[in-house]
Amino acid sequence: MTVLIAPSILSADFGRLAEQVSEAAEAGADWIHVDVMDGHFVPNITIGPAVTSAVRAATDLPVDVHLMIEEPDRYLSAFADAGADYITVHQEVCPHLHRTIECMRELGVHPGVTLNPATSLETLAEVVPEVDLALIMSVNPGFGGQAYIPSSTDKIRRLRAMLDERGSDGVQLQVDGGVNVGTAGEVSGAGASVLVAGAAVFKHPEGISEGIRLVRRAAEQGREGLVQVGAEPADGVG
Ligand code: DX5
Ligand code: ZN
Repeated sequence: MTVLIAPSILSADFGRLAEQVSEAAEAGADWIHVDVMDGHFVPNITIGPAVTSAVRAATDLPVDVHLMIEEPDRYLSAFADAGADYITVHQEVCPHLHRTIECMRELGVHPGVTLNPATSLETLAEVVPEVDLALIMSVNPGFGGQAYIPSSTDKIRRLRAMLDERGSDGVQLQVDGGVNVGTAGEVSGAGASVLVAGAAVFKHPEGISEGIRLVRRAAEQGREGLVQVGAEPADGVG
């Protein structure tokens, strides 16, 4: 099982967005992660369906839309029409989460659910069989470039165990926030299958391609530590 890398355009140069998305795709990005913030659920305001359409037009890669907004049900069809392949909603703002997930299915997108760092994993248990993606937030959402919250690693391990126990190994286990060359090994070693990385890719001093290469290498080293039972972790990981 390979680890997928999903660069977050939040840290991209928005004046050259299409170019930056193409550059990430050419450098081997697996998905493009689009962070939508409303200034209510999170303290920042970012982009909406129009910019999502521009990302869709710039790449054939799966477009992975992370909705950090209140009342996400009102906007699901707009993001589906904009070309999202995956849409992820926050559990904290969905009182009728099962219905929200059904609505995403009907719109033809892969449904995802995410949890803030303070939200218990148990809140996911009832809907895990219904989703295609479960996202562990490893920072408090709102901004790129924040530090990884160390307790996330145990939460990732517990989610991996929950997915394995239920035979839900087709569900993508995504991790978002503070993933970089120093943390990607730990995150993938704990069982993540998709790593979101913003600053580590788009703000890498040697460019997007080098950023992706280094995050992927760290993730693969971490994963090898997971699958080769008893193997020593590779140097420079963690
Ligand atoms: C945080 C966003 C993340 C963010 C990740 O609110 O959901 O996707 O862009 O950025 P880095 O990788 O810089 O922490
Ligand atoms: Zn995100």
